[in-house]
Amino acid sequence: MAPPIRLSVPGTLLYRPIAVRTVAEAARLVSCSPTNDIKDPTIDPLVHDVRHPFDTAVVSAFMEIFNNIAIHAYQRRGGGTIELTITPTSDSLLIEVKDSGRPFDLGNVVPLPADLDEESLPEGGMGIHIAKTMLDDMTYTPGPPNLWRLYKRLPAAQVAVGRS
Ligand SMILES: Nc1ncnc2c1ncn2[C@@H]1O[C@H](COP(=O)(O)OP(=O)(O)OP(=O)(O)O)[C@@H](O)[C@H]1O
Ligand SMILES: [Mg+2]
Repeated sequence: MAPPIRLSVPGTLLYRPIAVRTVAEAARLVSCSPTNDIKDPTIDPLVHDVRHPFDTAVVSAFMEIFNNIAIHAYQRRGGGTIELTITPTSDSLLIEVKDSGRPFDLGNVVPLPADLDEESLPEGGMGIHIAKTMLDDMTYTPGPPNLWRLYKRLPAAQVAVGRS
């Protein structure tokens, strides 16, 4: 198995696109979704386009967790790093996210009511629920350093036809 992909960025929202781009391309390695062809002048190579459901789920979950680290753990002040260790396999992706910000108790995040409809959706406090819904497994170990493990399997039905 190839060694994991590692990236360290400052813990502020300014660096989120760099981390997201890395995560998106790692997801693409698993889903085998096509990348933009930079030789095609009709496609802007700077547009970061993820369409495969596996890629969009992984990116959505990761963005929520990154936001929370920058906003809640580092309290928008930066001052620390967000370290990613990404392990793609042929049918799964594991993203480990480490930070040295303020730890918290994930168990205190109130669950969404079961009978939720559009009118009763809360305005905030959705990030953790979104991330959980998008992934097969999500764990958080408070530190410091705090460690998130975000895990998603590629459903057999989404395995690209003809991948090598
Ligand atoms: N990495 C973190 N470090 C410290 N506290 C956190 C962290 N992630 C979440 N929290 C706490 O858990 C709460 C719920 O997080 P969640 O992402 O669900 O909602 P939110 O960030 O408040 O709002 P939204 O994500 O919908 O904009 C946060 O308000 C915050 O108190
Ligand atoms: Mg949030």
